[in-house]
Amino acid sequence: MEIQINDLENIREAAHEFVAALGESTVIAFYGKMGAGKTTFIKAVCEELGVTDVITSPTFAIVNEYRSDTTDELIYHFDFYRIKKLDEVYDMGYEDYFYSGALCFIEWPELIEDLLPEDALRVEIAEREDGGRTVLIKD
Ligand SMILES: Nc1ncnc2c1ncn2[C@@H]1O[C@H](COP(=O)(O)OP(=O)(O)OP(=O)(O)O)[C@@H](O)[C@H]1O
Ligand SMILES: [Mg+2]
Repeated sequence: MEIQINDLENIREAAHEFVAALGESTVIAFYGKMGAGKTTFIKAVCEELGVTDVITSPTFAIVNEYRSDTTDELIYHFDFYRIKKLDEVYDMGYEDYFYSGALCFIEWPELIEDLLPEDALRVEIAEREDGGRTVLIKD
């Protein structure tokens, strides 16, 4: 399934469609080049889910934690771009997050591919020639 983001003005609409398309998977891997729009889309999806915290990519830690004000559920946002060794991922206790049942949104999942749960949902974000973005849900 494909969702189009024509410009930043309709990103909430795209996020709404995305949330409606989410099945049972709680671990969602966002693939896409640097600057493709992963953080921006995850932010819109979190807002759609009722998070009112400031949403930015984890910079100093690997993971940021948010809470939805509507469901009171936790959402975890990972960015594995800076990891150098898988040991860092083991040491942070990734399993406690991935198998917690809470939503986990992951940037740069290719760096921890072997650690992704079997039922992780894979999503690819790509910039279109006209500057819009395509969100491809692989299934
Ligand atoms: N749907 C969109 N339409 C237009 N511009 C966008 C869109 N999504 C992201 N951008 C712009 O592209 C730039 C990069 O976006 P973003 O930081 O979300 O990318 P990223 O995939 O998370 O990159 P990185 O791999 O570095 O984490 C930002 O300036 C952002 O405003
Ligand atoms: Mg990012």
